[in-house]
Amino acid sequence: MKNKIFLVSAAAALFLAACAMNNGVSSEQIGLRKANLNNENSVILSDINYSGLGAGESALLERAFENAPPLISHNLDGMLPITKESNSCLTCHDKAIAADVGAIAAPASHYYDFWKNKPTGDMISEIRYNCTQCHVAQSDAKPLVGNTFKAEFKNEASKKKSNLLDVMNEGVK
Ligand code: HEC
Ligand code: HEC
Repeated sequence: MKNKIFLVSAAAALFLAACAMNNGVSSEQIGLRKANLNNENSVILSDINYSGLGAGESALLERAFENAPPLISHNLDGMLPITKESNSCLTCHDKAIAADVGAIAAPASHYYDFWKNKPTGDMISEIRYNCTQCHVAQSDAKPLVGNTFKAEFKNEASKKKSNLLDVMNEGVK
């Protein structure tokens, strides 16, 4: 019994100590952006240059790892925001149009509904509609946290091309 009382009070003391420490840390001191979490306007954006080249003039970068979402290689002038009524990305990247305008078609995985487990035909899958949720533009931003990750690619082609839908179930029985 005595042991139990000791344990409970020790836990309570630890809890109170943790609370006291918590009060001493302001939101400016945590996280990587060092800004007040209650005020988005206090965030100071770093001076980052995005690739200024237009679609059709830019160069592709290697994928971060096999089947990672590729970075957008061109500038996004006049293309954002993506709304319910208008998605300018699809005016070039839709699979029915891409070849004609010299763009890379959105891959087969973007025309597949993983919930219903069937292709979506000519229509882009709803969860792929908001392109910039996954694809970001190339920039010269420096990593905020160092990292020694090295991607392993199965072959040269997969450094610049995706095939997620083909390999999705690899190893699954
Ligand atoms: C005017 C046509 C056009 C529009 C609009 C357009 N793109 Fe592109 N995009 C291209 C072309 C062409 C390329 C190939 C690289 C190049 O030549 O710039 C490309 C490349 C890309 C790539 C790189 C693909 C890879 O395999 O590395 C991504 C990702 C991309 N675009 C996403 C988008 C998104 C997202 C939007 C909408 C915000 C968009 N694009 C709007 C024409 C377009
Ligand atoms: C949920 C995240 C997500 C969204 C949303 C998304 N993509 Fe992708 N995209 C990916 C990933 C991951 C890949 C690479 C693997 C794959 O799916 O084949 C990819 C690959 C691509 C490629 C390269 C194709 C190739 O053959 O190498 C293009 C182009 C592309 N996406 C365009 C788009 C466009 C345009 C939209 C909006 C209509 C979009 N994506 C929306 C995640 C996304």
